[in-house]
Amino acid sequence: MARTKLIAGNWKMNMGITDAVDLARSVADKTASNTDVEIAIFPTTLALASVSEAVQGTNVQVGAQNMHNETDGAFTGEISPTMLQSLASMVILGHSERRQIFGETNDFIALKVASAVSNNITPVVCIGETLEQREANETSNILQSQVIAALLHLKDLPAHDMVLAYEPIWAIGTGVNANPDQAESTIAAIRNFLSTRYGSSAADALRILYGGSVNPQNWEDLSSQENIDGALVGGASLKADDFAKLVKTSSSITDLEIDSLV
Ligand code: 13P
Repeated sequence: MARTKLIAGNWKMNMGITDAVDLARSVADKTASNTDVEIAIFPTTLALASVSEAVQGTNVQVGAQNMHNETDGAFTGEISPTMLQSLASMVILGHSERRQIFGETNDFIALKVASAVSNNITPVVCIGETLEQREANETSNILQSQVIAALLHLKDLPAHDMVLAYEPIWAIGTGVNANPDQAESTIAAIRNFLSTRYGSSAADALRILYGGSVNPQNWEDLSSQENIDGALVGGASLKADDFAKLVKTSSSITDLEIDSLV
């Protein structure tokens, strides 16, 4: 099954509105020809409105880095799915930084995932193991239990309305990426598990990204793996040239072809 690649840039807590708009414009310019790849950037919540406006009409989609599951109410400091609807088409949920630093539980993440789907915002659901868990051969069990927990309130696998991101915690921001064999075999095992649970056509259609120290040097080998449907990128998404290189690596449209058409 041919799945459209998705290159997603998680900007984390970097850049205020002005810098975020500049980077968004630059990313849109540099990737304008790569229409066969889905591109999404996730700026800080504060910059969502300006960034959305800046990339309107381009190939670049905008997503949020987090949201609450409730649509309104007494939740100081939180943003609801209905508030995001006009600003973001996607939302990152269950990122390990939210789990580890902010104590988000599986239960909370499950509520958010269901809420995003029912409010027509595509959740990018993150799962991943620690180094200790990998070394203890617990990776499969951990990832399966994270998937089961995140999808708890959904009856079926929303294959076209959700994205899964495998982000091994030991690879995030460390400069040590999972090698292509590790990433491919782990993601293939997740897909296999989803297939037994939800059926092969849903599992085949679902996009599963790899995230963790992706850069223009290692992306070519990772991207060519059968089960890796794109990247969730932190550090390398903060530089327009690097991010555009990741997009171009996953695109079958070369700039040379575009130049020869003009
Ligand atoms: P790095 O690409 O900086 O390792 O971050 C990955 C990540 O956490 C994306 O969500």
